[in-house]
Amino acid sequence: MLKRVLRTKPVVAHSESGLKKCLSAFDLTLLGIGAIIGTGIFVLTGLAAAHQSGPAVVLSFIVSGTACAFAALAYAEMAATVGGCGSAYGYSYAAFGEVVAWIIGWILLMEYGMSVAAVANGWSGYFNNALTAIGLGLPEQLTKAPSLGGIVNLPALAIILALMLMLIIGVKQSAKLNAAMVFIKVLTICVFVAIASFNVHAENWHPFMPFGWFDTLPDGKTVGVLAGASLVFFAYVGFDAVSTAVEEARDPQRDVPKGIIYSLAFCTVIYIIVSGLLTGVVPYTELGVSSPVAHALQLMGYNWASALVSTGVIAGLTTVMLVLYYGLTRIIFAMSRDGLLPPFFSAVNAKTQTPIRVIIICGLITATIAGFIPLGDLAELVNIGTLAAFVLVCAGVIMLRKTQPHLHRPYKTPYSPLLPILGMLSCGALMAFLPAHTWQRFGIWLLLGVVFYFSYSLHHSKLKR
Ligand code: ALA
Repeated sequence: MLKRVLRTKPVVAHSESGLKKCLSAFDLTLLGIGAIIGTGIFVLTGLAAAHQSGPAVVLSFIVSGTACAFAALAYAEMAATVGGCGSAYGYSYAAFGEVVAWIIGWILLMEYGMSVAAVANGWSGYFNNALTAIGLGLPEQLTKAPSLGGIVNLPALAIILALMLMLIIGVKQSAKLNAAMVFIKVLTICVFVAIASFNVHAENWHPFMPFGWFDTLPDGKTVGVLAGASLVFFAYVGFDAVSTAVEEARDPQRDVPKGIIYSLAFCTVIYIIVSGLLTGVVPYTELGVSSPVAHALQLMGYNWASALVSTGVIAGLTTVMLVLYYGLTRIIFAMSRDGLLPPFFSAVNAKTQTPIRVIIICGLITATIAGFIPLGDLAELVNIGTLAAFVLVCAGVIMLRKTQPHLHRPYKTPYSPLLPILGMLSCGALMAFLPAHTWQRFGIWLLLGVVFYFSYSLHHSKLKR
């Protein structure tokens, strides 16, 4: 039995998957930026500044950005060496064997599925704000989940169904839409940066660290720069989605590492600038709202810029959902192709060359979740899952260098095993700063995964044959 669950998948030359190879390094970088900049910087920065980090939220971004950088280098090596559209799932299959791969795949399903639904909730809030501004706001019951006193969050549900159609049409078209949206998103950030640079009041940065490094309050809430770091970590979620596009990249071994590293570096710089300026233009205590960037512009008296930025945020959140949704379908595709999920999920439609069934099923499920479960409940699960995947990918680099030292590695993580170990430690620490109830829910999801593995996947795995 032990031998069966620990069987590893051999690393082979990239196989023909039937997926269209059309993405360049530039497309992949845009795909990364499309997935990364979103709810994290536009919403969570304000919440973290107001409740956990104060102006030192910029340090929170540096701390979690550093942890992500270690993980990104590991991802780049694994994507170039092992490849496959299954991302961390596929890498664990080669490095640790089947049961670990299954667990990580199962975690990734949660990470990506919950992220899509969570970001759809944030999108819905901004969208309804925009509708309200032109007098077309929806009734409140149609913009909230039942547990928040509504009936359904209709915009959140609808946007996911719209993206479902985009992904069915095909990935190149979606990549084009993504590029346009990324441009708008970066432009709105530039507008904010340009205005904010001339309105900084240095006294807003004092006290710089009102909540210290880390503390647990009597009500169980965590505060401080490190607690803030494990919250704003969400802002970096998504760079790993670049690695799920490896089978659709024109030159995956060269371009995927570039896409991962460039997009993460770009976003980290943007985050440091935006979070630094945001806490410089208004007191951090003003930022605990659902649209802090737009709110800050309003407080400065720039209403036109606030409206413009809101529009950009709507576009920005759309690309985040698109890329994460795309990643979700490709991971399921990979797991199904390996026999760990039913073969039903790995059929590629001959005409569109996209896995239509998976796209439709994921769309219907995440749309339903987005419509009926509130943002807070969804978001907290995303970080713990992503961090767990990062820890395993870093460990995978070390493991694979030991077990298969002669493998062709077009890209190598520098200073291995030092940097991968630092990645494991820093991502593990960020996990430890998350609240207890997040750990409990994560445990339940893992348990369900283990049950599924032993009742289905173990017996249907292609490695068995
Ligand atoms: N990083 C993505 C965001 O901030 C998930 O929305």
